[in-house]
Order: sequence, then structure tokens, then C-alpha cells
Amino acid sequence: MDWAGRKILLGITGSIAAYKATWIIRQLKSKGAEVQVVCSTDALGFVTPLTLATLSERPVYTEFVRSDQGEWVNHVALGLWADLMLIAPCSAHTLAKMAGGLCDNLLMAVYLSARCPVWFAPAMDLDMWKHPATSRNVNELISRPNHRMLGPASGALASGLSGVGRMSEPQEIVDAMEQWWLSTNDQARPPVLDTWRGKKVLITAGPTREAIDDVRYISNHSSGKMGYTLAQAFLEQGAEVMLISGPVSLSPPQGLQSFVAVESALEMHQAVEKYQEQFNVGIFCAAVADFRPVHKKDGKIKKKDGVSPIALVANPDILAEIGRNKRADQFLVGFALETENGLAEAARKKSTKQCDLLVLNHLNDPGAGFGLDTNQVTLLSNMGITELPLAPKIEIARQIIQHITKCYFHS
Ligand code: C5P
Repeated sequence: MDWAGRKILLGITGSIAAYKATWIIRQLKSKGAEVQVVCSTDALGFVTPLTLATLSERPVYTEFVRSDQGEWVNHVALGLWADLMLIAPCSAHTLAKMAGGLCDNLLMAVYLSARCPVWFAPAMDLDMWKHPATSRNVNELISRPNHRMLGPASGALASGLSGVGRMSEPQEIVDAMEQWWLSTNDQARPPVLDTWRGKKVLITAGPTREAIDDVRYISNHSSGKMGYTLAQAFLEQGAEVMLISGPVSLSPPQGLQSFVAVESALEMHQAVEKYQEQFNVGIFCAAVADFRPVHKKDGKIKKKDGVSPIALVANPDILAEIGRNKRADQFLVGFALETENGLAEAARKKSTKQCDLLVLNHLNDPGAGFGLDTNQVTLLSNMGITELPLAPKIEIARQIIQHITKCYFHS
């Protein structure tokens, strides 16, 4: 792929992993991209401006003013110039400043001026990474539109300890960029970091139909879009996706490991049970009908026979049953659509259905109803409560996956 004309702002902060940034510059330059380096002063304790300037073939900016030349560095112009801003390595301090909107150096001024997608690759010691303050900052950043977190990976750390906190490998970061450039319309796409390669994700989607007779049924307005979009977003991350879908008018995404089309809650239940042992992550997005007619009448109920009540019986709660029987290594995601007392109801469902993550839909908010391409959700997990702003469903799906990634691999 030709990277000519791609403009990348590379922010480097004070971390031992700064040396890895030199490799990123080399790779990006060799692919034909333009790279402008902006560093924090602490970064220069780890790599020299001469190395960075030589590799990037551009001056390296650190200060607002280059006093030796009387030149003022226009952070706004830099922020607008870039197609993508990558901060790698991103220290705990810079993460906190980004989350808080602080502007005490040129890098932060450029960040605050950037209109392009911002990717950041955290690098820090494992306890710093696990600290609630860092978790809060990360949650804030990943919930911002156009922000993507790469890593951190697990392994040997500069402190001599081993755990999560290593900066993602430069090759992975460059590969993720390539995927992104290759993606259609240059829209912000998530990095494909192979994070979910080899993991199995089961997703239920759409409504169910509970037959009254051969032509009539009880159902709901679920379009299946959120579940299908989650399937697509997990495929982008390398996962093996098994999609079980009620009747919808969508085409299943390419590349699914399996696709099972069902009609009723009982059929969905049966299909889920088949995969119960296999999945690593189970996402129960389907709007399963709570009740079904006790008896389905054969043929068509005739109007001339008059009105007769339809006796209903409760359907199995598929998610609750999987929750009761799940293994410790399985991660369960439930959805709740509430019209009142949303948070309290969602918290209750998270606990009774034994979910690791509960996604609360706000039906009452504009742009977040049935069948729309946008959604607004709140995430409840052991990382706390995270509100995601109204966004296209694909963006919401990617942010939900980032959240699951963090809970599943890093907690
Ligand atoms: O209780 P409520 O229907 O609001 O719970 C919603 C969550 O439970 C969703 O994740 C939905 O897919 C799941 N569910 C289920 N089986 C049911 C009802 C709901 O799996 N019978």
C-alpha cells in the first residue's frame, strides 16, 4: 500500500519505550508517510532530538518557542495538519493530562488542537496501569470519539516486574495503521491488533417471534443492528464469531465462524446451549420475548370464532441460565433496555443474570431508539459506570469491545 501523502503526528512522552518510537518512525517513513515528531521534554531523556529528526527528516518540536531561532511553533496548524495523531509511548502522566484537558506543553496543545483521530499506546509499570486513577483516565479517553487505545501488552517491564503495561510492539502499531488506511472512506476504524485472535465470541441478536398460529406471532421492534454490528467489530479484531439471530432483514457479516437463524426464544435457547461450552465471550444482545403462547394453534385462528384469550407462559431467560452455569474464564455481556430507573434496573439485571458487563440502552434519548444507526449506552462493569456519548452503532460497538478487552485481559 502506498502511504504517500499520509500525515502522521507522532507524540513521544517520557518512558523507556520511547526508543521503540524510533522504529515506528523508520517504518512509517519507509512506507512513504510524512511524520512530524512532537515530544515532551521528558521524552528527550530517553531519545535524542538528533535521532528523531534524522529519522523523520523534520525538526522535532518540544517547546512552544524555539528560542535559538525566535520561531513560534504553531500548535494549531500542527493539530490540523495531521491525518492521524499517535502518542506512543503514552505515559501515565500524559494520559492523565489528556483526560483532564491540561495544556502544560506543546504536545498537549497539539493534542487539544487536533481534529484527526488520536491513537495512544500506554506504557507504564503494572501497578501504575492498575491504579484506579489510570483506569478512570483510560475510561474517559476511550469513550471519546475518534480515540483508540493500542495495548498495553503484557510482559517484561523496565522495572524488572512482569505484567500489563508494556507498550504494544511497534510492528503491531504500524500494522494497525495500515489496516486503518486500507479501510473504506478513511473513516476512523479500530486497530486490528489480533487481540481477539483465537478467541470465540458468541452473539445473540434481533428479536424472537412467538407463534400464536401459523400466521401470527408476538414479537418486538428489535432490528438486530447492534448485535450484527458487534459481530462485525469483533471480526475486525480477529475473533471467531458465532452469531445466533432472530428474524431480521440484515445480511450476516462476512467471515463468521457460524451463523444460526432462529425464530423463537426456545430455538434461540437451544442454539445457545450448543455453544455454551465453547465461547470465551458471550454477548446477549437479542431482544428475547419474555412470554410465548402456551399452545400454538394449527392453521389460522378464524375471526368468525370470536375473541378468545391467548394464554402465555414465560420463556427461559437464556442469559440468566448461562450466567448461572458460566465458567470463571467466560465473560458475559447482557443488554438492558429500560424506560425508567435505568441505572438501578441495569445494576439489578447485571447482578441477577451474573453478567460481567451490562450495556444499558436509553430508549428515551433521541437517536437511541429501535432500528436507528446510532445509539447511546451506559456500561456497567467492575470498572464502574461509563457513559458513552451518542454515536454511530459501529463506533459504539468498537467502544464496547475496547471496554470488554480491558476487563477481559487487563483486570
Ligand atoms: O430481563 P431483560 O429482558 O430486560 O434482560 C435483557 C438481557 O437478557 C439481554 O441481554 C437479553 O438478550 C437477555 N435475555 C435472554 N433471554 C430472555 C430475556 C432476556 O437472554 N428470555
